[in-house]
Amino acid sequence: FHPNILLIPIAYLIGSISFAVVVSKCMRLPDPHTYGSGNPGATNVLRTGNKLAAALTFIGDALKGYFAVMLARIILGDQSLTSTLSSWVLCGVVLAVFLGHLFPIFHGFKGGKGVATACGILFGVNVILGIATLSTWIIVAVFLRYSSLAALAAAIFGPIYFVFLFGFQPMGISLLAICLLLIWRHRSNIHNLMNGTESRLGSKKKF
Ligand code: G3P
Repeated sequence: FHPNILLIPIAYLIGSISFAVVVSKCMRLPDPHTYGSGNPGATNVLRTGNKLAAALTFIGDALKGYFAVMLARIILGDQSLTSTLSSWVLCGVVLAVFLGHLFPIFHGFKGGKGVATACGILFGVNVILGIATLSTWIIVAVFLRYSSLAALAAAIFGPIYFVFLFGFQPMGISLLAICLLLIWRHRSNIHNLMNGTESRLGSKKKF
């Protein structure tokens, strides 16, 4: 047993902090599970009309993904690129922080859809990868005004950008797993998009 493997459960615990819940409590807003889509995420917090709370939720959820990956990269050092064990530990960390957000131990395993956390993770893996994927989200969100559709497009393009930049590597498996989990978490949004009932960004109504 190598102590570096402990980075994986630590990443899960970091991912389990839901900033939608924490920010809402600090700013005396209702619990995000009780309105709109019921999702503890920045898009749903925005439905309260409080842009600062939504921005802080996004930043907090993204930073926890970034922080978990950077912490692991610093502790694993250069080995994360060369040693087999370290590269697989980093893959585990990436998946664990994301799963922490989806199934948080601190919030009854009722987590979010993972968009902001995935964004932070991608910036932690590689800044160019983060910029490319975030740009995809922004372009779809600005032109079509659906947060969920922007997230789905970014989720699909993220692993493609990774392979384009780095070829086939173990990290690609973790990023593909994140993409599939993110799509699965958006199944109600996909249903709403297809029947035209998905709420647009900035609209307070969801139903
Ligand atoms: O970040 C989640 C977003 O893509 C959709 O959120 O609340 O509209 O289901 P929501």
